[in-house]
Amino acid sequence: QQRVLSGIQPSGKLTLGNYIGAMKNFVALQHEHECFFMVVDLHAITVPQDPAALREQSEAVAALFIAAGLEPAQAAIFMQSHVPAHAELGWLLTTMTYMGELERMTQFKDKSEGKEAVGAGLFVYPSLMAADILLYKSDLVPVGDDQKQHLELTRDLAGRFNHRYGDTLVIPEPFIPKVGARIMSLDDASKKMSKSSPNAGSFITLLDTPDEIRKKISRAKTDLGREIVFDVQNKPEVSNLMTIYAQCSGLSIEQVQAAYDGQGYGAFKKDLAEVVVQALEPLQQKYADIRSSGEIHNILRDGAERASAVAEVTLHSVKDAMGFLPRG
Ligand code: TYM
Repeated sequence: QQRVLSGIQPSGKLTLGNYIGAMKNFVALQHEHECFFMVVDLHAITVPQDPAALREQSEAVAALFIAAGLEPAQAAIFMQSHVPAHAELGWLLTTMTYMGELERMTQFKDKSEGKEAVGAGLFVYPSLMAADILLYKSDLVPVGDDQKQHLELTRDLAGRFNHRYGDTLVIPEPFIPKVGARIMSLDDASKKMSKSSPNAGSFITLLDTPDEIRKKISRAKTDLGREIVFDVQNKPEVSNLMTIYAQCSGLSIEQVQAAYDGQGYGAFKKDLAEVVVQALEPLQQKYADIRSSGEIHNILRDGAERASAVAEVTLHSVKDAMGFLPRG
C-alpha cells in the first residue's frame, strides 16, 4: 500500500480553496492508501499566533478533517507537535538545505515582503515541511498548486540525503488535482483564495452560514459579457466560479457549461450559492457534532501514537546513517 501524508495549518478558518484543493482528496485517498493527515501547528507559529487562538484553531481544524469525511479508522489524524520527530528531522534537514534554495521559495517571498521583522522559522519552513513528508516515507502528497515548489525542494532534499548517506528516504510525488488545484479569490481571479486576505468577502470558509455564502457569491466579481463559458485566459472570474460549481456539485466543467448555455450570470450565481450551501451543510452538521462530543482528543491521541510509531523508525535510520552515536 502506498503511503500518503499531508497537512493543513491551523491559522484562521479553512476556506473552500483548502477543501477543494486538498481535503477533498484526503478523503478520496483514505481507503486505498495508508494515510497520515496532520494539523501543522509547528508551521503555524512561523508567524506570531495568539496562544488561545492557536489552541482553538488547532482543535477546529482537526474537527474539520473528520467533518469533511476522514475516518480515524482509515487515516491517522494528529497534531504535528504531538510527534516530536518532526521538529528533530526538521533540524537535521535544515542543515542540509541551502540558503539559495530557501531564498527562491515564492511563499517565503510573499509572506516576508514589506515586513520589518521576519522570523527565521518562516525562512526554514520548507525544511520542516520536507521532514513532515520524509518521516513517513510518503509516496504521495495531496496538496494544492501553491505547495508544488515546496514538494520539489522536498524531493531534492531526499535525493541529496540518499546520495550522501545511502538509500534511506523515499522520494515523494505531489498529488495535485487537475481541476481545483488553485481556487481563486472571489474579488480578484489573479490571486488565490486565501484565509489571510483582509477582505472577508474574497473567500468562503467551511463554516460560513448559508446567508454569508449567498451574499459573498452574489457579490463575487464577474467578467465582461454575460455568457457562462470556461475560458481561464479571457474569463478568469467566471471560470473560477465554474470550477467551484463543478467541485461542489460533482459535475464536470463541461456539464456545468452546458447546463448554463444561454443563461446569464444572475441565474448562475444564484444556483452556485445553493450548490455550495448544500455541499457544506452535512460538513457543518458533522462539525458541530464532533466539537460537542469532545471526541477529537481521543482521535488525536490515537493518531499521534500511530504516526509516532512510523516516524520514530525513520528518524532512527536517518540518525544512524548520518553517524549519530546511538544512545544504547
Ligand atoms: P496551507 O495550510 O496553506 O493549505 C492547506 C492545503 O490547502 C491548499 N490550498 C489551496 N488549494 C486550492 N486553492 C486554494 N486557493 C488553496 N489554498 C490552499 C494548499 O495547497 C494545501 O495543500 N505548507 C502547507 C502545509 C504543510 C504540508 C506539510 C502539506 C506543512 N507540512 C506536508 C503537505 C505535506 C501549507 O501551508 O498549507
